[in-house]
Amino acid sequence: MRFTIDGDRLLSEIDALASFSDAAAPAVTRIVFTPTDLKARVWVKARCEEAGLTVRQDGVGNIFARWNGSDPTAPVVGTGSHIDAIPNAGKFDGVVGVLGGLEAIRGLRQSGFRPKHSIELLIFASEEPTRFGIGCLGSRLLSGTLTPDAARKLTDNDGATLDQVRARANLSGDLEQVKLPSGYYEAFIELHIEQGPRLEREQNPLGIVTKIAAPASLRVLIEGSGGHAGGVLMPDRGDALCAAAEMILSIESAARSSGATDTVATVGICEVFPGAVNSIPSRVRLSVDVRDTDLQRRDLVIRTIESTCDSISAKRKVSIHSELLNADAPADCAPAVVEALSQSCRAHQLSFLPMVSRAYHDSLFMSRIAPVAMLFIPCRNGYSHRPDEYAAPEDIVRGTLILAETLAALSR
Ligand code: GLV
Ligand code: MN
Ligand code: MN
Repeated sequence: MRFTIDGDRLLSEIDALASFSDAAAPAVTRIVFTPTDLKARVWVKARCEEAGLTVRQDGVGNIFARWNGSDPTAPVVGTGSHIDAIPNAGKFDGVVGVLGGLEAIRGLRQSGFRPKHSIELLIFASEEPTRFGIGCLGSRLLSGTLTPDAARKLTDNDGATLDQVRARANLSGDLEQVKLPSGYYEAFIELHIEQGPRLEREQNPLGIVTKIAAPASLRVLIEGSGGHAGGVLMPDRGDALCAAAEMILSIESAARSSGATDTVATVGICEVFPGAVNSIPSRVRLSVDVRDTDLQRRDLVIRTIESTCDSISAKRKVSIHSELLNADAPADCAPAVVEALSQSCRAHQLSFLPMVSRAYHDSLFMSRIAPVAMLFIPCRNGYSHRPDEYAAPEDIVRGTLILAETLAALSR
């Protein structure tokens, strides 16, 4: 059976979704549950309903759009990704998997295909860590990786609890009901841009992910002593920002000296208090992201960072406290789902690279409850999380077609 992907419709929907943004184009900023994100979610749900899918939303805001199969008792074949976007992002991260997934389902429906297993498009809530400090909030709860009680303790950047944010977003569903029963999914596939340069460099149109790297994040709070930038002499200072500068460089060197190129560490946020040119910084908060494909190596970097906190604190007369927000284990993709994707590629004589995902994805957490694999398409220069993120139309359409074929194969 041949499925047709309506590339024009898909690309125009990607553009339309990018218009829901709190940043001027081409940048996209869509932080979860802001008024802009809520409008985008309404728009996406309307597209799913228009396609004839049955839409439901759970208590944390994960959206499920379902095409019922002929056997309602058979486990579901799922696909999807996220539509929230970090500040100053591009328009493809997550969106390709959501709108590509929707287009794949529409293509299957229009071809006359009738699945035995229901097919479900999932739009995960809060994949990006921007608002609550940890990523993949929706899929962590779905998979039981995060308990509702632990989720309720999360606060956003303005100090609002998850329950307060949910109430404002009109999410009245019970958090206890979010976790899916095991065996719910037959398979789950996420289509995504690579967010790295390998496919483009090797001129390969597709990547099939076999392993997802393990992320960890820490918050480091440095408290020194503030004071007048003219009045306090250098020997008397406990400048929190100078200590932070040393911390940042030692975090970089901890990752560089791990012995493996797979180890990466980033300090993406540095908040300085009080933030006045003539005031010595008294308090700094750093947000640190450490990743590796190897759990032990990743955890060694974390331990090095923790011991560096002690040594810099002693040396610079400041207090340094680090808090580990999450330290997840890597995931292996399911060989059967990897093989189903590979077969669809072979059927179209398309070459593909087996690869590791260095970014994390909701699939990492879905892998705890379902056989999972991911399909990557190239993105120009490997750029992502920046406004000039770009995926070529032919790559998006190709990925969507392979996704459609694989969903069909798994749902027969
Ligand atoms: C997801 O966006 C990640 O940071 O890997
Ligand atoms: Mn992202
Ligand atoms: Mn993403």
